[in-house]
Amino acid sequence: MAKLEKIAKSEQVRESSGKRPIEDLRDWIQRVGELGELIRIEQPVDCVEEMSAITYLLAKQSPSPAVLFEKAKGYENSPIAARLLWNILGPSLRRIALTLEEPPDTPTVELIRRVKDKLKERVPPREVARNQAPCFEHTLTGEEIDLNQLPIPKHWPLDGGRYAGTADAVITRDPDTGYLNVGTYRMMLQGKNQVGLYLSPGKDARLHITRAWQRGEPIDVAAAWGIDPLFMVIGSQTFAKNVSEYEYAGGVKGEPVSVVRGVTTDLLIPANAELVIEGTIRPNSVKSEGPFGEFPGYYGRPEAGCPLVDVTAVHYRSKPILTNALMADYPS
Ligand SMILES: Cc1cc2nc3c(=O)[nH]c(=O)nc-3n(C[C@H](O)[C@H](O)[C@H](O)COP(=O)(O)O)c2cc1C
Repeated sequence: MAKLEKIAKSEQVRESSGKRPIEDLRDWIQRVGELGELIRIEQPVDCVEEMSAITYLLAKQSPSPAVLFEKAKGYENSPIAARLLWNILGPSLRRIALTLEEPPDTPTVELIRRVKDKLKERVPPREVARNQAPCFEHTLTGEEIDLNQLPIPKHWPLDGGRYAGTADAVITRDPDTGYLNVGTYRMMLQGKNQVGLYLSPGKDARLHITRAWQRGEPIDVAAAWGIDPLFMVIGSQTFAKNVSEYEYAGGVKGEPVSVVRGVTTDLLIPANAELVIEGTIRPNSVKSEGPFGEFPGYYGRPEAGCPLVDVTAVHYRSKPILTNALMADYPS
C-alpha cells in the first residue's frame, strides 16, 4: 500500500474512534478508566512488597484492571507525594490496543497488522520549549535531590534493593552517531542521589556506555519513571541501532512525540513525563546491584557491577505517577 494511503487509513481509523492520540499518562489513565479497566486505591499501601503482592494477585484475575495506588504508606507527607501505577497492561488486549493508539476492540491479528504498518512510518520527535513541558513543573538539583522522598518499591522479598523505573524510558545518546536511544531498563536505588542501571549484554545503552568509557569519557543519561505506556512498549523492543525509538513512537501515534531538552544534560526527554531524572555515569563507575525477581518467575543472579548514575536533576509534575512493571511468572 502506498505511504499516503496508509497514513490516510490510520487517520480514518482515528476519526472513527473519535480520539486524538494519547497525550500523556494521565490521559491514558482517564481512557482506561472509561474502559472500566482501572482501580484507584485511596488507602495508603506499602511500596515494600505490598503493592507488588496485590499486583501479582490482580494480574491473575480475569478481567485484570490496572491499579493506581494514590498513597504510598509512609510517604503521605513527602513533598513529592508520588502515586504509583501497576499492572499497566496486564493480560488486557484492550489496554494493549489502546496504548498502541488503536480502538480497544481491534481483533488481535488486525492489531498486529496495523502496528506493523505503523512501525514503518517513522515520525521524528518535536522539541518544545521548557516552559511548555509539563515534566518541568518542579525541578530539584544538587543538594535538593533526595530520592528517598520517592516511594520506590521493593518487589520481592529477596530483591537486592528498591527498584525505580521498571516500566520506564531510559535515554542515552550514541557517542559516535549522536542518535538517541530509548530503552526500558530497571534502576536500583543506591543512595540519595545515585541509582544503578541494569543492562543485559548487547543492550543499546550498554554499548553507548562502553564506547564512552573506552574514550575515558562520562556519559549522560536520563530516565522517565512515569510515562505514557507506549514508551515502555517501544522502549522494550529491539530496533535498528541507528534509529531513535522516539521516531517509532511517533509512527505509532501518527504524530511527533513532544520532547524537551534536559537542564543538566543535553538529552531530549519526554516532555509530558510524570517524573524524570537526569544524571551522568562517570568512567568505569559501577556498583553491584540485584538480585531481582525476574519475568520467568525466579531471581536473576546478583550482577557484579552495574553502571552507577549520579543524579544531577529530578523533574516532576505535581503528584507524579510512577509506572511499575512487576516481573513474575505468567501472565506478567
Ligand atoms: C518491563 C520491562 C523491563 C525490562 N527491564 C530490563 C532491564 O532492567 N535491563 C535490560 O537490559 N533489559 C530490560 N528489558 C528488556 C529491554 O527493554 C529490551 O531488551 C529492549 O530491546 C532494550 O532496548 P535496546 O534494544 O534499545 O537496548 C525490560 C523489558 C520490559 C518489558
